[in-house]
Amino acid sequence: TKRIAILASGGPAPGINSVINAAALEALNQGWEVFGVLDGYRGLRDDELKQLKVEDVSWIHFEGGAVLGMSRTNPKQPEVLEKVVATLERHKIDMLLTIGGDDTAYGASVIAEAMAGKLKTVHVPKTIDNDLPLPEGVPTFGYTTARHVGVGLVKNLMRDAQTCSRWYIVTSMGRQAGHLALGIGKAAGATLTLIPEEFDGPVTLENLTRIIEGAVIKGLSRGRKWGVAVVAEGLIENLDHKDLENFPEIRRDSFGHILLADLQLGRLLCEKVEERLKQRQIGMRFNEVTLGYELRCADPVPFDIEYTRDLGFAAIRFLVEGGTNGMVLIENGKRKSIPFYEMRDQKTGKTRVRNVDVSQEGYLVARRYMQR
Ligand code: F6P
Repeated sequence: TKRIAILASGGPAPGINSVINAAALEALNQGWEVFGVLDGYRGLRDDELKQLKVEDVSWIHFEGGAVLGMSRTNPKQPEVLEKVVATLERHKIDMLLTIGGDDTAYGASVIAEAMAGKLKTVHVPKTIDNDLPLPEGVPTFGYTTARHVGVGLVKNLMRDAQTCSRWYIVTSMGRQAGHLALGIGKAAGATLTLIPEEFDGPVTLENLTRIIEGAVIKGLSRGRKWGVAVVAEGLIENLDHKDLENFPEIRRDSFGHILLADLQLGRLLCEKVEERLKQRQIGMRFNEVTLGYELRCADPVPFDIEYTRDLGFAAIRFLVEGGTNGMVLIENGKRKSIPFYEMRDQKTGKTRVRNVDVSQEGYLVARRYMQR
């Protein structure tokens, strides 16, 4: 009997459980034995696998989070890789289904290479950031739900800001890309949304402060004493070198990208804008809020449930048809696959990031609307 292992790695995104549900059910239909790996690659390193039967995966598609757990352990470190390969060999696993971002897909390709053809792999792309190199118009699963929940939260903040005559600066997760911030800001009709793609080259704190100050003054001239600015965490990556000294504890991921320095970005912006308005004799209160962790484990909206069930099924069909080392996606209702190596820039070796195309009509419309 063939054996497949399923794991989810990286940060959570709504819909992971329904990928597991659909993939496990189809694999069981094929007569395969299905194993869930606990906490992503950590479970492969530490040999923590659990056999999955129909009753283990039924109903889980409605739920946020990931029943198998997740972690950021990655097999690209040689000592981890060795243990991962040993676990897969010990359990006679022939196929590995990974759910995650670029880092997870890269990990799977490293394992496949180390096992020289003995393991077939398939990847289902996931992230609330929507920044993986998929064809235009194809979202990463989880993004739609994250935006939905984010819009509800920003709506409440807008009402709060209006009620209490103040401003909120909401820093939204999204890594280097502004999709999530823009999606939330645009749908909620936030007063202002700032994303990294809008700026050519480095951005300074001074720059961002002036833009927000400008929006406050414009609002006041129309009798509007409140506002909500949605600011993408990705802006921090483009900050001028000098400004980075303001962020003493910047954390970076395994690719060297800055993580969650957003906490300080929001706080710094609040302080700076308040200070500048004071110089103009304007007393306006600014509060910072960060958005990200509240969104990642939300129950998926029906779009993400349906989409992820298609993806889970597609991943198994890909393997049944003899595919390996590929990422599956659904475009216009059709299953497609992208070889792992195409996710990376051949020259730099880095994963290609899908950014917001600011020249698009949708972006222009959003900017006009928000600045009204
Ligand atoms: O990639 C998903 C994501 O939520 C990013 O938006 C964010 O920068 C990062 O994960 C946070 O990661 P961690 O869980 O390690 O704090």
